[in-house]
Amino acid sequence: MKALTWHGKRDVRIDEVPDPTIEHPTDAIIKVTSSGICGSDLHLYEVLGPFLDAGDVLGHEPMGIVEEVGSEVTHIKKGDRVVIPFNVSCGHCFMCEHDLQSQCETTQVREYGSGASLLGYTKLYGQVPGGQAEYLRVPQAHYGPIKVPEGPKDDRFVYLSDVLPTAWQAVQYADIPKGGTVAVFGLGPIGLMSAQIALHLGASTVFGIDLVPERLREGERRGAFPVDMNQVEDLTAYLQEHTNGRGPDSVIDAVGMEAHGAPVGKFAQTIAGFLPDALARPVFETAGVDRLSVLHAAGDVVRRGGTISLSGVYGGMADPMPMLQLFDKQVTMRMGQANVKRWIGDILPLLTGEGDPLDVDRLATHHLSLDDGPQAYETFQKKQDGMIKTVLQPHGAA
Ligand SMILES: NC(=O)c1ccc[n+]([C@@H]2O[C@H](COP(=O)([O-])OP(=O)(O)OC[C@H]3O[C@@H](n4cnc5c(N)ncnc54)[C@H](O)[C@@H]3O)[C@@H](O)[C@H]2O)c1
Ligand SMILES: [Zn+2]
Ligand SMILES: [Zn+2]
Repeated sequence: MKALTWHGKRDVRIDEVPDPTIEHPTDAIIKVTSSGICGSDLHLYEVLGPFLDAGDVLGHEPMGIVEEVGSEVTHIKKGDRVVIPFNVSCGHCFMCEHDLQSQCETTQVREYGSGASLLGYTKLYGQVPGGQAEYLRVPQAHYGPIKVPEGPKDDRFVYLSDVLPTAWQAVQYADIPKGGTVAVFGLGPIGLMSAQIALHLGASTVFGIDLVPERLREGERRGAFPVDMNQVEDLTAYLQEHTNGRGPDSVIDAVGMEAHGAPVGKFAQTIAGFLPDALARPVFETAGVDRLSVLHAAGDVVRRGGTISLSGVYGGMADPMPMLQLFDKQVTMRMGQANVKRWIGDILPLLTGEGDPLDVDRLATHHLSLDDGPQAYETFQKKQDGMIKTVLQPHGAA
């Protein structure tokens, strides 16, 4: 079959790879009809090379049709329409039973001290072949796959794999008081959906902060108050002016480790990107590889006693954090990979009921074939062609 594979920094290709087969009784095979490209994939493209091997299949946002199931998979059958969570989780360990599926003890990657395995996301997360491919082997398929109804196009459901539960968790962790205010850094798919969900759940004002004009416009269309980083000189003062002098109650970081405007982290990321893997890996453990400008800005703008919710992915082990400020301002911080299955019961009714209250049908800016994948990574990284979210369709329109 054809699959999108990693070959090096800014080098992904379409390769012919062996068709996946059932390897464990808890596996399933799906024919992938839609598969998102995520901001997290850009970290693989640019920074996390030391943890990938040439030929690794990427992609962690797939949905499709069940082709085959292992003997222990009973809640889905051949022909069912399913979305696959990016967490590979078992459903019955201590962590899964506490709705912390991204920490699953059955699939944790102990060699690297990481949480649950993830589809298509480096050795740190189990080196599981991903879903930007014609077919996918789904591990732990007795638990993970989410059955969705026939009818609407794939776009309605595909974001259950990652974007929607990540944004939902970001908003829950942000703990916005009723009628309160929240600043969302980054208006990619995660930030846009976080803004939309925060408003849906009753926030009075969402400040949407970014520097890409079409993303700011899309944030505004979805009800956020757009804040162009390039236009506002003193962001803290600006947000205070709009929040009774205090700053927003909550802040969501939907940018992560590749934020603009952080020269030190960028230098470390560039160095790590060019070193041989064996030398680069320790850089992640001993140097500050993350670009922390957004984390610092979050600490600056949040009101005293407020909450910061991090959904952007960070990767370094020794990053300096603005501890003095966070401690002094009595800030609560929550973060982590989304626990996908934890939130499906909250989100699914909004996708299957009347209308499309989260406006998911209009999130994708590009629907492309698998063959167009490598070009899409480049366009997405450069933020060109108005690209905000790409859904690959390996078998044509879905
Ligand atoms: N926690 C999770 O489970 C989870 C799941 C999915 C994605 N993520 C992470 O969430 C982040 C966002 O994902 P996405 O798909 O929306 O990515 P994206 O790359 O499309 O969006 C990031 C946005 O941040 C903006 N930005 C960059 N620097 C900025 C700055 N200094 N201030 C304000 N905005 C800035 C960019 O212009 C861009 O619009 C990524 O780090 C991704 O890895 C986390
Ligand atoms: Zn993703
Ligand atoms: Zn588990």
